[in-house]
Amino acid sequence: MGKKDQNKGLSRRSALGLIGAGAGVMAAGSAFPTKFAIGAQSKIKIGTLLPYSGTYTWLGQSITNSFELALAQAGGKLGGRGIELIKVDSEAKPPKAAELTNKLINQEKVDFIVGPVHSGVAMAMAKIAREEGTMTVIPNAGANQVTGPLCSPNIFRTSFSNWQPGHPMGKVLLEEGKKNVVLCYWGYGAGKQSAGGFKDSFVAGGGNVIKEIAVPFPKVEFQAALTEIASIKPDAVYAFFAGGGAVKFVKDWAAAGLKDKIELVGPGFLTEGVAKAQGAAGEGLRTTLHYADGLDNPANRAYRAAYKKTYGKEADVYGVQGFDAGQLIKAGVDAVQGDVAAQKAMVAAMEGAVIDSPRGQWVLSSAHNPVQNFYLRQVRNGRNEMVRVAMENLADPAKGCSA
Ligand code: BEZ
Repeated sequence: MGKKDQNKGLSRRSALGLIGAGAGVMAAGSAFPTKFAIGAQSKIKIGTLLPYSGTYTWLGQSITNSFELALAQAGGKLGGRGIELIKVDSEAKPPKAAELTNKLINQEKVDFIVGPVHSGVAMAMAKIAREEGTMTVIPNAGANQVTGPLCSPNIFRTSFSNWQPGHPMGKVLLEEGKKNVVLCYWGYGAGKQSAGGFKDSFVAGGGNVIKEIAVPFPKVEFQAALTEIASIKPDAVYAFFAGGGAVKFVKDWAAAGLKDKIELVGPGFLTEGVAKAQGAAGEGLRTTLHYADGLDNPANRAYRAAYKKTYGKEADVYGVQGFDAGQLIKAGVDAVQGDVAAQKAMVAAMEGAVIDSPRGQWVLSSAHNPVQNFYLRQVRNGRNEMVRVAMENLADPAKGCSA
């Protein structure tokens, strides 16, 4: 792979660059595409394991941008020490995850891992991070197990469990009297668990799931699924797709003539970061998520303005999760004045942190997953606007976590 390809999907602007970071690129063919080094010595080493290629590229880039923005706003220092950021392309490919995680921990000897986006990558990564005791902050991947049976003192999440965003949508549809629903999702952990969260409220409240249609990840051939849905004619379809796949699904849905016939809903990933690209096909879609573009709080206004100024585009939930990963790590490292070997004290500070997030303030559950509000949103003029709070302070059930 040439240098050009290695940097594919990476923003040319860096928030850390704004505070005078030096930049270097690792040798061609390395799994570690880019290094940013700040300060002269004794830096905190952070490795990002995020998708910089493939269908989740937008998500990885948005997280990275906002994580760097949080570090820049911290003056480029954590606990008085400079920061070295090592960016690794996970490609959202689970089979590569163990090797890349091992490299970050054993070769690069990072102090923190920040990643991933994909639940399958998270499963492989978390098993190793747990074993090695490496401090890890997950800024997206929702794999329920990571804050369930695999929960661990050194593993934190600033995003959601896959169960969480689906759960409020089941309640919303029931309240509106919609009883017969088809589920359509990418058939890997995230899609299945998102459907599980939905069913836990919808079916428990008397709703019927008529059919579940799984499309292999990352495939975007949706025609067979759409033909089947059209023949079933359910009250609504709950769909889990994200990034490039979500753009294609929503456009195909409209092109198949379903937009005005059957309500399409989902967890917010269906329209998040991609509502503009979906254009008219996405207008009016309703989803549930722990964020909405226009949330009226000072942290959201400041964050969105800074993001726009630095990167020239609108922020989204993936960025918010990356920004909060920076805030959470800062809370921990500042508390031990940079002495990351004092892991117990650092973990305690992170556990007790109240994160002043663009999504609204949140705290961690004892399983290290955010307890947060979930909003019903609607796409209006290419923005995910808040309609109302669908569920307040929703915690993941964290089944199987005994740490
Ligand atoms: C996941 O794989 O956990 C995931 C990916 C994209 C959006 C949401 C969840």
